[in-house]
Amino acid sequence: MPVITFANAKGGAGKTTAALILATELAAQGYRITILDADPQRWITSWHELSGVQRNISVISEVSMGSLQSHIRENRDQTDYFIIDLAGARDALVATAIGLSDHVMIPIQGCAMDARGGAQILELLQQLDKRAGVRVAHSVVLTRMSTVVTTRAMAAIKQLLSERGVAVLDTPIAERVAFRDIFDCGGTLRTMDPQRISNLDKARENARLFAEEVLGRVPARRGALAACRSALETRVRAA
Ligand SMILES: Nc1ncnc2c1ncn2[C@@H]1O[C@H](COP(=O)(O)OP(=O)(O)OP(=O)(O)O)[C@@H](O)[C@H]1O
Ligand SMILES: [Mg+2]
Repeated sequence: MPVITFANAKGGAGKTTAALILATELAAQGYRITILDADPQRWITSWHELSGVQRNISVISEVSMGSLQSHIRENRDQTDYFIIDLAGARDALVATAIGLSDHVMIPIQGCAMDARGGAQILELLQQLDKRAGVRVAHSVVLTRMSTVVTTRAMAAIKQLLSERGVAVLDTPIAERVAFRDIFDCGGTLRTMDPQRISNLDKARENARLFAEEVLGRVPARRGALAACRSALETRVRAA
């Protein structure tokens, strides 16, 4: 089952936020998600404790270098996507997680344009390729984008990165209150109250487009697709 890892050696780039948005959106679409919370700060674990049982989402905490592989092995039959959230570091755990991944998402703050932490992850990916012949697909996702950033500015950032051979997702993650408050409220974007959270509809649409693009780049394996289709059919029948 595909393993998607969020990595950026610099703290605060938006890894955990992007990982949780993706996890909750895919889960709502019927995919079974296992989140491996490999950040000692345990933000996703705290979100899960606050939220209670969430359909299609399991969270495994206390993930270490030694346990990472066995978590994946032991849970793969009941998982369509593994999502790994890492600390903002460049250490052995980060390197191990990257080596086990089908796709590495590198969140970079669009406005700050501070790509150094992201560049360190790109270096790790290159080393893995050179030393072990392991090529891991990867993409940059621009995060915390100001909603007033023009399409021209976006295109310039993409151009800069693509000149270095780095793919950038078409969908940036915007700076939204909902993406911050989800950690305080618990639950998902779909269970949040639109009366209380400004622009919740826009955040939901952003999450949908982001997940759709990730699904396009990291397709689910066939069993998962069948499960998803049957979940959809059940919902259509119930409606
Ligand atoms: N799209 C967003 N909209 C609003 N706030 C955001 C967004 N992305 C991140 N934040 C906020 O920015 C801060 C850092 O984000 P986050 O925790 O996701 O980064 P991180 O890369 O996981 O950090 P760390 O390296 O410390 O684990 C948090 O306070 C979070 O709520
Ligand atoms: Mg984090």
